[in-house]
Amino acid sequence: MDLILALSKGRIFEDTLPLLEAAGITVTENPETSRKLILPTSDPGIRVLIVRASDVPTYVQHGAADFGVAGKDVLLEHGGEGLYQPVDLHIAKCRMSVAARAGFDYETAVRQGARLRVATKFTSIAREHFAKKGVHVDLIKLYGSMELAPLVGLSDAIVDVVSTGSTLRANNLVEVEEIMDISSRLVVNQAALKMKRARLQPIIEAFERASAAKA
Ligand code: ADP
Ligand code: PRP
Ligand code: MG
Repeated sequence: MDLILALSKGRIFEDTLPLLEAAGITVTENPETSRKLILPTSDPGIRVLIVRASDVPTYVQHGAADFGVAGKDVLLEHGGEGLYQPVDLHIAKCRMSVAARAGFDYETAVRQGARLRVATKFTSIAREHFAKKGVHVDLIKLYGSMELAPLVGLSDAIVDVVSTGSTLRANNLVEVEEIMDISSRLVVNQAALKMKRARLQPIIEAFERASAAKA
């Protein structure tokens, strides 16, 4: 029974390679140089699909991939239906934060009950965060370069992932509130877990052992 793994190019692919190695699996083509979207591995029964980071849960949910790796941010936005999330892989670590222009007094605006315009790709996370705080927000959906929005008056604040903080600094923005820590999870199709358990279980366990060291 073949196994299909869904990964996104870039940091998730790079950080998953050592976990695959720990399970005895080597990806034999590089997605940065190959135009192929289905990559072979050293195991003829395992192939890797290269998809957009936010599409990983969709491929796994529908069983087009048996398993995948996705950020907690992406999983919260997707909703996680049909997905089993057995392992926090402790890779692609960052945090979800609110940021604003250096001159914007976020605390006072919140305290005074101002209505905030918030630009983000993460509308579910942002909606829930501000609802919990009782802050009224107008959410503006963007698909990237969120840091630009406050600079050109599109929004008062943004909700985005922050790691080193250098993107915020480079754009004269400051982190005004941390919402949650983010890392990537192994996600498994629930039906595949039952039907292909014998194939999947050793890989899940190898991922678990290899990622525990990074916790
Ligand atoms: P995208 O093309 O969707 O931006 P990325 O490869 O940049 O895809 O992000 C994949 C996942 O990695 C995100 O869902 C998030 O969990 C995490 N991530 C995003 N940016 C960073 C970062 N700067 N440092 C560490 N992890 C990050
Ligand atoms: C991500 C994110 C932030 C940045 C934060 O962008 O969207 O812009 O990282 O990281 P930092 O705090 O270390 O600067 P990414 O590098 O994924 O580029 P992207 O726009 O292609 O998603
Ligand atoms: Mg990115």
